[in-house]
Amino acid sequence: MRVLDLLVADVVDEAPDAVAVTGDLTNLGLEGEFLPAALFLGRLGPPEKVAAIPGNHDAYVRNVAGAPARVWGAHMSGDDGRVGFPYVRRHGLVALIGLSSAVPTYPLAATGEVGAIQRDALGPLLRSLKDEGFFRIVLVHHPVAEDGTPWLRRLRDAAELREIIAREGAELVLHGHNHEPARAAIPGPDGEVPVIAVPSCSTGLLSHEPLAAYNLYQVSGEAGRWECECVTRGFTREGDIKETDRFKVA
Ligand SMILES: [Fe+2]
Repeated sequence: MRVLDLLVADVVDEAPDAVAVTGDLTNLGLEGEFLPAALFLGRLGPPEKVAAIPGNHDAYVRNVAGAPARVWGAHMSGDDGRVGFPYVRRHGLVALIGLSSAVPTYPLAATGEVGAIQRDALGPLLRSLKDEGFFRIVLVHHPVAEDGTPWLRRLRDAAELREIIAREGAELVLHGHNHEPARAAIPGPDGEVPVIAVPSCSTGLLSHEPLAAYNLYQVSGEAGRWECECVTRGFTREGDIKETDRFKVA
Protein backbone atom coordinates (compact mmCIF):
# COMPACT_ATOMS: atom_id res chain seq x y z
CA MET A 1 0.00 0.00 0.00
CA ARG A 2 3.00 2.30 0.58
CA VAL A 3 4.02 1.84 -3.08
CA LEU A 4 0.50 2.66 -4.19
CA ASP A 5 0.37 5.74 -1.92
CA LEU A 6 3.61 7.11 -3.40
CA LEU A 7 2.42 6.51 -6.95
CA VAL A 8 -0.95 8.14 -6.24
CA ALA A 9 0.88 11.18 -4.81
CA ASP A 10 2.87 11.39 -8.07
CA VAL A 11 -0.32 11.20 -10.17
CA VAL A 12 -1.94 13.94 -8.10
CA ASP A 13 1.24 16.06 -8.51
CA GLU A 14 1.01 15.72 -12.31
CA ALA A 15 -2.59 17.02 -12.12
CA PRO A 16 -4.08 15.22 -15.15
CA ASP A 17 -7.48 16.33 -16.48
CA ALA A 18 -8.80 12.80 -15.97
CA VAL A 19 -7.62 9.48 -14.60
CA ALA A 20 -8.54 6.03 -15.93
CA VAL A 21 -8.08 3.01 -13.64
CA THR A 22 -8.29 -0.26 -15.58
CA GLY A 23 -8.34 -2.72 -12.63
CA ASP A 24 -8.01 -5.00 -10.85
CA LEU A 25 -8.92 -3.02 -7.77
CA THR A 26 -9.06 -5.90 -5.27
CA ASN A 27 -7.11 -9.12 -4.71
CA LEU A 28 -9.77 -11.72 -3.92
CA GLY A 29 -12.88 -9.59 -4.34
CA LEU A 30 -13.87 -10.11 -0.71
CA GLU A 31 -16.33 -7.77 0.96
CA GLY A 32 -13.67 -6.07 3.08
CA GLU A 33 -11.61 -5.06 0.03
CA PHE A 34 -14.19 -2.86 -1.70
CA LEU A 35 -14.13 0.10 0.68
CA PRO A 36 -10.32 0.45 0.79
CA ALA A 37 -10.35 0.36 -3.03
CA ALA A 38 -12.98 3.14 -3.04
CA LEU A 39 -10.70 5.20 -0.78
CA PHE A 40 -7.83 4.62 -3.22
CA LEU A 41 -10.00 5.90 -6.09
CA GLY A 42 -10.99 8.89 -3.96
CA ARG A 43 -7.35 9.79 -3.33
CA LEU A 44 -6.78 10.00 -7.11
CA GLY A 45 -9.37 12.74 -7.43
CA PRO A 46 -13.10 13.45 -7.38
CA PRO A 47 -15.35 10.80 -9.02
CA GLU A 48 -16.07 12.98 -12.07
CA LYS A 49 -12.32 13.03 -12.85
CA VAL A 50 -11.50 9.42 -11.97
CA ALA A 51 -13.04 6.72 -14.16
CA ALA A 52 -12.61 3.08 -13.18
CA ILE A 53 -13.51 -0.31 -14.60
CA PRO A 54 -13.44 -3.61 -12.69
CA GLY A 55 -11.17 -6.59 -13.36
CA ASN A 56 -11.63 -10.33 -12.95
CA HIS A 57 -10.39 -10.21 -9.33
CA ASP A 58 -13.26 -7.85 -8.52
CA ALA A 59 -15.79 -10.51 -9.53
CA TYR A 60 -14.25 -13.64 -7.97
CA VAL A 61 -17.00 -14.19 -5.44
CA ARG A 62 -20.60 -14.42 -6.62
CA ASN A 63 -22.14 -12.91 -3.48
CA VAL A 64 -20.34 -9.58 -4.08
CA ALA A 65 -21.30 -9.46 -7.77
CA GLY A 66 -23.13 -6.14 -7.27
CA ALA A 67 -20.43 -4.60 -5.08
CA PRO A 68 -18.38 -2.83 -7.80
CA ALA A 69 -21.40 -0.86 -8.98
CA ARG A 70 -22.60 -0.20 -5.41
CA VAL A 71 -19.31 0.87 -3.83
CA TRP A 72 -17.46 2.28 -6.86
CA GLY A 73 -20.49 3.45 -8.85
CA ALA A 74 -19.48 7.11 -8.73
CA HIS A 75 -16.33 6.11 -10.69
CA MET A 76 -18.17 3.67 -12.97
CA SER A 77 -20.80 6.00 -14.38
CA GLY A 78 -21.08 8.21 -17.42
CA ASP A 79 -21.72 11.90 -17.99
CA ASP A 80 -25.43 11.07 -17.73
CA GLY A 81 -24.92 9.85 -14.14
CA ARG A 82 -26.02 6.31 -14.98
CA VAL A 83 -23.94 3.59 -13.32
CA GLY A 84 -23.11 0.72 -15.67
CA PHE A 85 -21.27 -0.34 -18.81
CA PRO A 86 -20.49 0.91 -21.30
CA TYR A 87 -20.30 4.42 -19.88
CA VAL A 88 -18.98 7.53 -21.61
CA ARG A 89 -17.12 10.41 -20.02
CA ARG A 90 -16.11 13.45 -22.04
CA HIS A 91 -13.05 15.47 -20.99
CA GLY A 92 -12.15 18.20 -23.50
CA LEU A 93 -11.04 16.46 -26.72
CA VAL A 94 -11.19 13.02 -25.16
CA ALA A 95 -14.07 10.59 -24.63
CA LEU A 96 -13.46 7.67 -22.27
CA ILE A 97 -15.59 4.60 -22.94
CA GLY A 98 -15.62 2.22 -19.96
CA LEU A 99 -16.34 -1.49 -20.52
CA SER A 100 -16.54 -4.25 -17.93
CA SER A 101 -14.99 -7.62 -18.68
CA ALA A 102 -15.30 -8.76 -15.06
CA VAL A 103 -17.27 -12.00 -14.82
CA PRO A 104 -17.05 -14.81 -12.26
CA THR A 105 -14.98 -17.73 -13.51
CA TYR A 106 -14.20 -21.22 -12.24
CA PRO A 107 -11.20 -21.48 -9.86
CA LEU A 108 -7.75 -20.64 -11.27
CA ALA A 109 -9.19 -19.08 -14.43
CA ALA A 110 -8.75 -15.35 -15.02
CA THR A 111 -10.74 -14.97 -18.21
CA GLY A 112 -13.08 -12.11 -18.96
CA GLU A 113 -16.01 -11.35 -21.20
CA VAL A 114 -17.55 -8.05 -22.25
CA GLY A 115 -20.74 -9.77 -23.38
CA ALA A 116 -23.33 -9.15 -26.08
CA ILE A 117 -25.22 -6.35 -24.29
CA GLN A 118 -22.15 -4.12 -23.96
CA ARG A 119 -20.87 -5.07 -27.41
CA ASP A 120 -24.19 -4.14 -29.01
CA ALA A 121 -24.05 -0.73 -27.33
CA LEU A 122 -20.39 -0.11 -28.17
CA GLY A 123 -20.69 0.19 -31.97
CA PRO A 124 -23.28 3.00 -32.00
CA LEU A 125 -21.41 4.77 -29.17
CA LEU A 126 -18.11 4.76 -31.05
CA ARG A 127 -19.89 6.01 -34.18
CA SER A 128 -21.62 8.93 -32.45
CA LEU A 129 -18.48 9.93 -30.52
CA LYS A 130 -16.59 9.97 -33.83
CA ASP A 131 -19.28 12.23 -35.30
CA GLU A 132 -18.89 14.50 -32.26
CA GLY A 133 -15.14 14.68 -33.05
CA PHE A 134 -13.74 13.02 -29.95
CA PHE A 135 -10.46 11.17 -29.41
CA ARG A 136 -12.03 7.88 -28.34
CA ILE A 137 -10.28 5.87 -25.63
CA VAL A 138 -11.78 2.46 -24.88
CA LEU A 139 -11.07 1.06 -21.39
CA VAL A 140 -11.26 -2.70 -20.89
CA HIS A 141 -9.46 -4.71 -18.22
CA HIS A 142 -8.45 -7.71 -20.35
CA PRO A 143 -6.20 -7.45 -23.44
CA VAL A 144 -8.03 -7.06 -26.75
CA ALA A 145 -5.12 -7.64 -29.16
CA GLU A 146 -3.85 -11.11 -30.01
CA ASP A 147 -0.80 -10.75 -27.78
CA GLY A 148 -0.15 -14.26 -26.51
CA THR A 149 -2.12 -13.87 -23.30
CA PRO A 150 -2.54 -17.42 -21.88
CA TRP A 151 -5.84 -19.17 -22.65
CA LEU A 152 -6.95 -19.11 -19.02
CA ARG A 153 -6.32 -15.35 -18.77
CA ARG A 154 -7.84 -14.30 -22.10
CA LEU A 155 -10.77 -12.06 -23.01
CA ARG A 156 -13.22 -14.63 -24.38
CA ASP A 157 -14.92 -12.22 -26.80
CA ALA A 158 -11.77 -10.35 -27.87
CA ALA A 159 -12.35 -11.28 -31.54
CA GLU A 160 -15.87 -9.79 -31.47
CA LEU A 161 -14.54 -6.61 -29.84
CA ARG A 162 -11.80 -6.34 -32.46
CA GLU A 163 -14.48 -6.63 -35.16
CA ILE A 164 -16.43 -3.71 -33.68
CA ILE A 165 -13.30 -1.57 -33.46
CA ALA A 166 -12.26 -2.57 -37.00
CA ARG A 167 -15.63 -1.29 -38.21
CA GLU A 168 -16.24 1.78 -36.02
CA GLY A 169 -12.70 2.73 -34.98
CA ALA A 170 -11.22 4.09 -31.78
CA GLU A 171 -8.15 6.22 -31.25
CA LEU A 172 -6.74 4.17 -28.35
CA VAL A 173 -7.54 1.07 -26.27
CA LEU A 174 -6.19 0.81 -22.72
CA HIS A 175 -6.09 -2.31 -20.59
CA GLY A 176 -4.57 -3.80 -17.43
CA HIS A 177 -4.63 -7.45 -16.33
CA ASN A 178 -1.15 -8.64 -17.29
CA HIS A 179 0.81 -6.45 -14.83
CA GLU A 180 3.19 -5.60 -17.65
CA PRO A 181 3.63 -2.65 -19.97
CA ALA A 182 2.69 -3.70 -23.50
CA ARG A 183 2.07 -2.00 -26.82
CA ALA A 184 0.08 -3.69 -29.55
CA ALA A 185 -2.21 -2.63 -32.38
CA ILE A 186 -5.45 -3.87 -33.88
CA PRO A 187 -7.03 -2.98 -37.22
CA GLY A 188 -9.26 0.07 -37.43
CA PRO A 189 -11.17 1.50 -40.41
CA ASP A 190 -8.49 4.15 -41.05
CA GLY A 191 -5.35 2.30 -39.95
CA GLU A 192 -4.12 0.66 -36.80
CA VAL A 193 -5.61 1.33 -33.37
CA PRO A 194 -2.99 1.30 -30.60
CA VAL A 195 -3.66 -1.01 -27.64
CA ILE A 196 -1.60 -0.17 -24.56
CA ALA A 197 -1.29 -2.00 -21.26
CA VAL A 198 -0.27 -0.33 -18.07
CA PRO A 199 1.77 -2.26 -15.47
CA SER A 200 0.51 -2.82 -11.95
CA CYS A 201 0.59 0.36 -9.84
CA SER A 202 1.39 -1.44 -6.58
CA THR A 203 4.38 -3.69 -7.38
CA GLY A 204 7.11 -2.69 -4.93
CA LEU A 205 10.88 -3.05 -4.81
CA LEU A 206 10.72 -6.42 -3.04
CA SER A 207 8.59 -7.92 -5.81
CA HIS A 208 9.17 -8.95 -9.41
CA GLU A 209 9.75 -6.55 -12.31
CA PRO A 210 8.21 -4.52 -13.83
CA LEU A 211 7.87 -2.17 -10.89
CA ALA A 212 4.80 -0.02 -10.29
CA ALA A 213 4.17 2.59 -12.95
CA TYR A 214 1.44 4.54 -14.70
CA ASN A 215 1.02 6.22 -18.08
CA LEU A 216 0.32 9.88 -18.71
CA TYR A 217 -1.31 10.64 -22.08
CA GLN A 218 -1.34 14.05 -23.69
CA VAL A 219 -3.81 14.46 -26.54
CA SER A 220 -3.91 17.37 -28.98
CA GLY A 221 -5.02 18.09 -32.54
CA GLU A 222 -8.36 17.17 -34.00
CA ALA A 223 -10.13 14.35 -35.83
CA GLY A 224 -8.03 13.22 -38.79
CA ARG A 225 -4.79 14.66 -37.35
CA TRP A 226 -4.61 13.61 -33.73
CA GLU A 227 -1.42 13.75 -31.74
CA CYS A 228 -1.00 11.72 -28.59
CA GLU A 229 2.14 11.23 -26.54
CA CYS A 230 2.54 8.80 -23.66
CA VAL A 231 4.92 9.29 -20.76
CA THR A 232 5.43 6.39 -18.35
CA ARG A 233 6.27 7.36 -14.79
CA GLY A 234 7.23 4.65 -12.36
CA PHE A 235 9.51 3.32 -9.66
CA THR A 236 13.20 2.81 -10.29
CA ARG A 237 15.36 0.25 -8.44
CA GLU A 238 16.62 3.17 -6.37
CA GLY A 239 13.09 3.64 -5.04
CA ASP A 240 12.23 6.98 -6.59
CA ILE A 241 9.52 7.73 -9.14
CA LYS A 242 10.48 9.29 -12.43
CA GLU A 243 9.88 9.19 -16.18
CA THR A 244 10.88 5.72 -17.39
CA ASP A 245 9.58 5.81 -20.98
CA ARG A 246 8.16 8.25 -23.54
CA PHE A 247 6.61 7.37 -26.90
CA LYS A 248 4.24 8.62 -29.55
CA VAL A 249 0.80 6.97 -29.64
CA ALA A 250 -0.70 8.96 -32.52
FE1 LIG B 1 -6.92 -9.10 -14.03
